Amino acid sequence: MTGFPQLRWRRLRRTEALRALVRENRVEIGNLIYPLFIVEGSGIKQAIASMPGIFHFSIDQLPREVEEIAELGIPGVLLFGIPEEKDEVASSAYHPQGVIQQAIGAIKQSVPQLLVVTDVCLCEYTSHGHCGIIVNGDVDNDQTLPLLARTALSHAEAGADIVAPSDMMDGRVKAIRGALDEEGLQHIPILSYAAKYASAFYGPFREAAESTPQFGDRRSYQMDPPNLREALREVEQDIAEGADIIMVKPALAYLDVIRQVRDRFNYPLAAYNVSGEYAMVKAAVQQGWLDEKAVVLEILTAIKRAGADIIITYHAKEVARWLRQAP
Ligand code: PBG
Repeated sequence: MTGFPQLRWRRLRRTEALRALVRENRVEIGNLIYPLFIVEGSGIKQAIASMPGIFHFSIDQLPREVEEIAELGIPGVLLFGIPEEKDEVASSAYHPQGVIQQAIGAIKQSVPQLLVVTDVCLCEYTSHGHCGIIVNGDVDNDQTLPLLARTALSHAEAGADIVAPSDMMDGRVKAIRGALDEEGLQHIPILSYAAKYASAFYGPFREAAESTPQFGDRRSYQMDPPNLREALREVEQDIAEGADIIMVKPALAYLDVIRQVRDRFNYPLAAYNVSGEYAMVKAAVQQGWLDEKAVVLEILTAIKRAGADIIITYHAKEVARWLRQAP
């Protein structure tokens, strides 16, 4: 029996029960991480125009939000801070009473079991908006490393469960691992933004996080989008330096990178479904051009099919609601 008419693919597509039985990939709430933008001040829950449904929260508004997130079954949040004070050396990134350090405390107090992942980067905290410090007009790799390590350490000391460096300086995973271990924080995992591309899909995020570079761009440190082999070397290096979880970012235009990393490295793999990917879907849905639930579930399933274990997505709350409803 080698083909039609004995062989018919449509037999297993006939009913939803049959399709579900042979389904190869599923989106699960337990693998999703929801990003949160946190600002200083109080009483603030302000909408971000280019990311409908996403808000800036002040710390006093966090308990209510994280209780809802936990109730929906989402296991973790990824924190981004927007400080009032920015300077050349990103002082507020590693201040013990910085916006993120305080936010971690507030979240842990209201929902202790919710995983708190912190984005470790300087761009939201520098006056110039670059991810490292500037020396002679350029982003200086080696002088940035101690500041990143200090930032990660202050997050862990404040109670973060996982630190996630996104700056793309060379050697930062090693620097952070060293700093954590020296202070008795050997148990804190590093989720490394290992293959992070210089992508135009970060546009809405930069508006939300006020982190647009004041001069130049990020192409001297983030990866060039056409490169795949280089991504594999980046991942290999971050693993060698001590990364526990690796990330590919963005997700949708980089599904091939996710697949290759999955095939080559036996490490937990995260994919970041970034702000621009979210904004495109929301814009089309607002126009009535796409069926939101169907499209979002299709996108997230595709990211899983490409090989991601963990998906960081602004859609997490909606998805959790959809998946909880009886099919
Ligand atoms: C910080 C950082 C960025 C994102 C996550 N961490 C912006 C950037 O690198 O410019 C983007 C996230 C998103 O677009 O959703 N460096």
